[in-house]
Amino acid sequence: MELKGKHIVLGVTGGIAAYKAAELVRLLIKQGATVQVAMTESATHFVTPVTFQALSGKTVFTDQWDARITNNMAHIDLSREADALLIAPASADFLAKVAQGLADDLLSTLVLARDCPLLVAPAMNRQMWDNPATQRNAATLRTDGIKILGPGCGDQACGETGLGRMIEPEEIVAELIAHFQPKLLTGKRMLITAGPTFEAIDPVRGITNLSTGKMGYAIARAAREAGAAVTLVSGPVALPCPQGVTRISVSSALQMCEAVHNHVGNNDTFVAVAAVADYRPIRTSAQKIKKDGSAPQAIELVLNPDILAEVAALPQPPLCVGFAAESENLHEYAEKKRRAKKIPLIVGNLIQQGFGGDTNTLILFDDDGQHPLPPAPKIELARQLVARIATLLEKR
Ligand code: PMT
Repeated sequence: MELKGKHIVLGVTGGIAAYKAAELVRLLIKQGATVQVAMTESATHFVTPVTFQALSGKTVFTDQWDARITNNMAHIDLSREADALLIAPASADFLAKVAQGLADDLLSTLVLARDCPLLVAPAMNRQMWDNPATQRNAATLRTDGIKILGPGCGDQACGETGLGRMIEPEEIVAELIAHFQPKLLTGKRMLITAGPTFEAIDPVRGITNLSTGKMGYAIARAAREAGAAVTLVSGPVALPCPQGVTRISVSSALQMCEAVHNHVGNNDTFVAVAAVADYRPIRTSAQKIKKDGSAPQAIELVLNPDILAEVAALPQPPLCVGFAAESENLHEYAEKKRRAKKIPLIVGNLIQQGFGGDTNTLILFDDDGQHPLPPAPKIELARQLVARIATLLEKR
């Protein structure tokens, strides 16, 4: 329910992606928002207002002269109640109108009369998007402080492939949630490690652990929502990359270490969430090891580099944040790790709570003492951690 209490006015303009706006309404409501739909006349040729009315539970407005609005002020009234005005899909024609400040129907008048943020999700043929006129209009919208979501690249309804399709409803909702987060890390850069590492024994076997990457990915998302440029060095996980985050996929601890050293230079913060294997097999067999009836071979191990400790020991290290997952004595072991790695902040979690699930319980240990973060979804905890990191960055 990440949009609880938010009132969104959703403007639907004429384009085949209008059918996806129906799913968008459903997802917004699932996140706790109330949704008021307004459509252009051409949008009603693709999807009927009845569909949106059934999904939103509210009368849909299409006409400036709607007799149901006794004062004829729908364009004013609708925007005054809104926390955000979202146009999805936004056609090339509609973007042009907004860029020019035209107001010749209910939706364009509503846009001009708004006193709330405007976000638009363009949807059009790739040539229309590439057209210099559309690009000029998009630039004008950006200058005017209007947030453009997408467009995405891929197959188009016309049979062509390219940039111009509306980003998916799930992505639009994630962007809207991000829009409402405080921008505590604007202009900052954050490097994050996440997930497990996989230390190969042979081409099909290896040493790994149960980290799913959920905690690290949640921090990447929260940091990006807060305005940071985020690079995520990820071990093998089954999660989609959070929107707007640059992901570098690695497998072993050595690969993770190399990727971190390649990218750490221009970052303000390094957050090591990955469950890095402490050891790797000294040799990786090029061929699958066969079971030949003799005694099993012992696997000789060698210590992996401690990525976090190495970064913390750089001449001008970023703000380094570590994680400690413990099965007992959390306070003692976490503080011990913080001192050993010489880092200002370590985040303690119990193995039983941290690994795998969607929720966690954290304790932050830094020079000011302990800050417990009660059980919550990982994204909520990630946002609280990001706030703490922003405070520590300010103090630097
Ligand atoms: O991915 P999830 O399923 O959501 O689970 C999240 C998590 C439990 C894995 C995460 O919250 C967590 O606690 N990660 C750290 C696990 C751990 O205890 O690591 P460690 O004690 O081996 O290392 C301590 C710190 O040093 C960590 O920040 C680790 O990333 C870093 N480290 C460790 C070893 C190494 N060779 N290089 C490192 O950078």
